[in-house]
Order: sequence, then C-alpha cells, then structure tokens
Amino acid sequence: MELILETERLILRKIAVADAETMYELNTDPLVIQFTGDGPFESVEATRQFIAERQQQYAIDGYGRWIAQRKEDGAIIGWCGLKFHPETNETDVGYRFFRKFWNRGYGTEACAATIQYGFKQLGLKRIYAEARMENTGSWRIMEKCGMRFSHKSTGCDGETVIYDMLAE
Ligand SMILES: CC(C)(COP(=O)(O)OP(=O)(O)OC[C@H]1O[C@@H](n2cnc3c(N)ncnc32)[C@H](O)[C@@H]1OP(=O)(O)O)[C@@H](O)C(=O)NCCC(=O)NCCS
Repeated sequence: MELILETERLILRKIAVADAETMYELNTDPLVIQFTGDGPFESVEATRQFIAERQQQYAIDGYGRWIAQRKEDGAIIGWCGLKFHPETNETDVGYRFFRKFWNRGYGTEACAATIQYGFKQLGLKRIYAEARMENTGSWRIMEKCGMRFSHKSTGCDGETVIYDMLAE
C-alpha cells in the first residue's frame, strides 16, 4: 500500500489494480454518478485498464486521484485526489464516495487534507474544483474547505460552479 496522507479518520493511498472490483461497483450506483459526467465502467476488466492508466499518470504528474479508506475498519469509502490538466496547466480536486458513507463529513475531511497536501507537499499554487449546480453536497464541501467561488461555467452536462483556493 502506498500511503499518501492521513486524516483523523481516513487514509488516502494510491489506487491498485486490486481495487478494480470496488471501483467498478462505485460507478454502478446511478446516484453516485448522477452529476459526475461519466458513466459506469463497461466491466471489471475495463476498470483494471483504467486503473493501470491512472497509475502511469501518477508517475507522469506526481499525483492523481487516491483511494480513501477508513482507518477504523479499513473500509474503502471511495476516492479523493488531485488531477493535473495539461491543457490548462491547472490542478483540480475531486472526490466520489459510496452512498452509505455520505453525510458523515468524510468528503470535507478528505478534500481539506488533499488541498493542504497539494500546497504543502506538492508546491501547487492554485487548486480548483468544479461541480454541477445541482450537486449541493459537492459545492458545500468546497465551501467548508475554505475554497472561494470563482465563476460559473457551462459544460456539455449543464451549468457548473467553479471554486478555487490559492496557496498562502
Ligand atoms: C458530494 C459528495 C462527495 C459529498 O460527500 P460527503 O462525504 O457526503 O460530504 P460531507 O459529509 O463532508 O458533507 C458536505 C456538506 O454537504 C451537505 N450535503 C451532502 N449531500 C447533500 C445533498 N445531497 N444535498 C444538500 N446538502 C448535502 C452536507 O450536509 C454537508 O454540509 P453541512 O456540514 O453544512 O451539513 C458525495 O455525496 C458523493 O460522493 N457524491 C457522488 C459523487 C459526486 O458527486 N462527486 C462530486 C463531483 S463534482
């Protein structure tokens, strides 16, 4: 296991091919992917391939999305992490959790720690997050992490809000 960071209740670690079934399952819940703009994986095998590509991306960018696991029992609650966008030279923070773990503050806890890791360990200057307008839980996380509203945008999936934070 390649640990990235620890919070009071969670660890964030690099994704492994062995996580394929769990990640496949996460994206099969229509409510989980309701506002994310992507669909379910075609199969567990396709999920393995996706993970292999993400692992290569860790090596290229030095970071990526990480598995979030609960310390008390080792349960995988979902993922949270950073993503580099080469077309804009910018980094966003994203998160996605199994429904049974929603509304317990895990999203805010994981996102806040990820942002601090991005600034302090990776030396990033700006981190942003984007969510569909209807995705109240997501933009509440941004607000609770101290990100500020930047602007609205319109993607192919509808209207989004963009929040950001600058390194101090
Ligand atoms: C959005 C998501 C990450 C929130 O994670 P979470 O662990 O439930 O977040 P938290 O418990 O830290 O809660 C964040 C805040 O949003 C609120 N919230 C969460 N879901 C909400 C909803 N559906 N409607 C309104 N408020 C909501 C919580 O009450 C909390 O605010 P509060 O502390 O003022 O009460 C989670 O619902 C999820 O994984 N959704 C599916 C994937 C997704 O949409 N990812 C983001 C894509 S941009």
